[in-house]
Amino acid sequence: MHPFDLETTDRLLSTTRAVRKRLDLDRAVEPETVHQCLELALQAPSGSNKQGWHWVVVTDPARRAALADLYRRGFDPYHAARRRQLADGASEQDLRVLDSARYLRDVLDRVPVHVVPCIEAEVPENAPPRFWISLMGSIFPAVWSFQLALRARGLGSVLTTLHLGHADEAAALLGIPRGVVQAGLVPVAYTLGTEFRPARRRPLDDVVHRDGW
Ligand SMILES: Cc1cc2nc3c(=O)[nH]c(=O)nc-3n(C[C@H](O)[C@H](O)[C@H](O)COP(=O)(O)O)c2cc1C
Repeated sequence: MHPFDLETTDRLLSTTRAVRKRLDLDRAVEPETVHQCLELALQAPSGSNKQGWHWVVVTDPARRAALADLYRRGFDPYHAARRRQLADGASEQDLRVLDSARYLRDVLDRVPVHVVPCIEAEVPENAPPRFWISLMGSIFPAVWSFQLALRARGLGSVLTTLHLGHADEAAALLGIPRGVVQAGLVPVAYTLGTEFRPARRRPLDDVVHRDGW
């Protein structure tokens, strides 16, 4: 006997997708639902159990519009560069992601809830990789738990990072104090339909190394 219903657990873990085109832009999201999912996110691990996380939940339309504007300023150069990069060898999956990402760029202001996960940190000058690994490793597990909890309730989300080139402007907009690092922007909405499929990933055998690389 397993402690969890594996059919359901594995379906949750294998079908929590980056949702963009299937975000329901017209259905309101109850604040309690976001709250519940954030409560679950706080069960995630963090380095030294510091729990330095903060979550800025943005529903104000003017602030969402301003965040979407910052996002577009990050997205447009990324999109152009990525298209050049893919000019010859783009797979169908690459093109689908790009098309979907472009859609999100266009509608981001209309996604009913934006969540900006943040983490307290005094970032040293020339912070070494281990600093960033430990810092980001102390927020992204919680972000993913949040996304899984949303999915279990019929909502979708996508972790985005492209506004971070303008993180200072976002901090000024949202009143995020110094000593707090933004880790992304997660648009949240109900999904149009709740069926999602497992994605095609690199085969496990290509990436698992037994008893050494
Ligand atoms: C660190 C990180 C940054 C990401 N940044 C963005 C982003 O800025 N915009 C976006 O639309 N998707 C972003 N994504 C989502 C990825 O494109 C998505 O997870 C990937 O294409 C796999 O899609 P799937 O989870 O639906 O299989 C990001 C994902 C990660 C893990």
